Amino acid sequence: MYELASDSWGEEEISAIQGVIDSGRYTMGEKVSEFELAFASKFGSRHCLMVSSGSMANLVSIAALFYKSDQPLQKGDEVIVPAISWATSFYPLQQYGLSLKFVDVDLETLNIDISKLEEALTPKTRMVMAVSILGNPAELTRLRTFCNKHGLILFEDNCESMGARLDGKYTGTFGDIGTFSTFFSHHISTMEGGLIITDADELFHLMKSIRAHGWSRDLPDDTSIYNKSDDDFFEAYRFILPGYNARPLEFSGAIGLQQLKKLDDLVDIRRKNADLFVELFADDERFIIQKENGSSSWFSFTLILNPDIKTDRKQCLAHLRDEDIQFRIITGGCFPRHDVIKYFDYEIVDNLDNANVAHDRGFFVGNHPKNIEKELTNLHSILDRVVS
Ligand SMILES: Cc1ncc(COP(=O)(O)O)c(C=O)c1O
Repeated sequence: MYELASDSWGEEEISAIQGVIDSGRYTMGEKVSEFELAFASKFGSRHCLMVSSGSMANLVSIAALFYKSDQPLQKGDEVIVPAISWATSFYPLQQYGLSLKFVDVDLETLNIDISKLEEALTPKTRMVMAVSILGNPAELTRLRTFCNKHGLILFEDNCESMGARLDGKYTGTFGDIGTFSTFFSHHISTMEGGLIITDADELFHLMKSIRAHGWSRDLPDDTSIYNKSDDDFFEAYRFILPGYNARPLEFSGAIGLQQLKKLDDLVDIRRKNADLFVELFADDERFIIQKENGSSSWFSFTLILNPDIKTDRKQCLAHLRDEDIQFRIITGGCFPRHDVIKYFDYEIVDNLDNANVAHDRGFFVGNHPKNIEKELTNLHSILDRVVS
């Protein structure tokens, strides 16, 4: 069986879990704080907040942008988004009443086609959501320049690309906010978990409150987001923002600390697997594989059947299924083609031709934090046989 994902845990993670059990503190505590500090330091960010998933990282972050004091986001504001990303990149935007402008992707990198940004821009545009798909850095330097030029917020959903780099910087660190996921299949795993990084003190404090019921309890005394009173009784349950409960468990912090130490090695193994994948498929005109931009952390391997060839994707996938090879549509495909789009306020910029090709002709197979030479060679020989 060539699976989509496998775990990267060893003895260290099991001991970390046992350590939490021994401590008797299961809810968010010291280990989560330690992990947040280590994560912020690894990515050179002033602040890091851990939450219960990458999806909650996006939701808590978008919420915070509505409550910041200087030019908060408002209902009806427009956000430029790529046509391909995970559903929960988009949901918080819909839930907070933002209007989405879907821009096509580049067929090779699978990231937003930046030549269409100007066309997507209107006087109502307030933010760009940058997503580096499946480990491959989006054009983040140029997106940052575009946002600076037009006074826009750059929000980086980096949930698929921990450890990737562009122009000497980690993805996730180009934006005003960067979000990460530590779900099972991701570069490091706490099974469920998410992280947010930002350099902005105010956003960080807003997120801290929004993460835990919108209360004031987790904030430092000198925060700018509210004035603490000296009534301890009232302060213990003082609600200042409409928030959620997005707290991670203490286990997640303890495991994350161990996993983070392994991140570089885990990404190196993925990159070695990618070298072989590229060698096997890159010069073959039957397939369009993801073209690396900067240094990808290779979440998985995408293949798009060249629209000029005859082979039907359905047939091709049937062969893979017969051979016990798992696959999925590329990050959910072209998002506006999903039923849920009827609830969105959105527009399509020009056309989504490439996202549609990826949707109709593409799929991905897994990359793993272990050597998969045998699986990749077998995949290649099957596809070589069945794709004409
Ligand atoms: C781009 C992107 N954003 C957000 C998420 C959500 O992360 P989680 O599964 O941790 O909620 C994912 C999940 O893989 C993702 O791919």
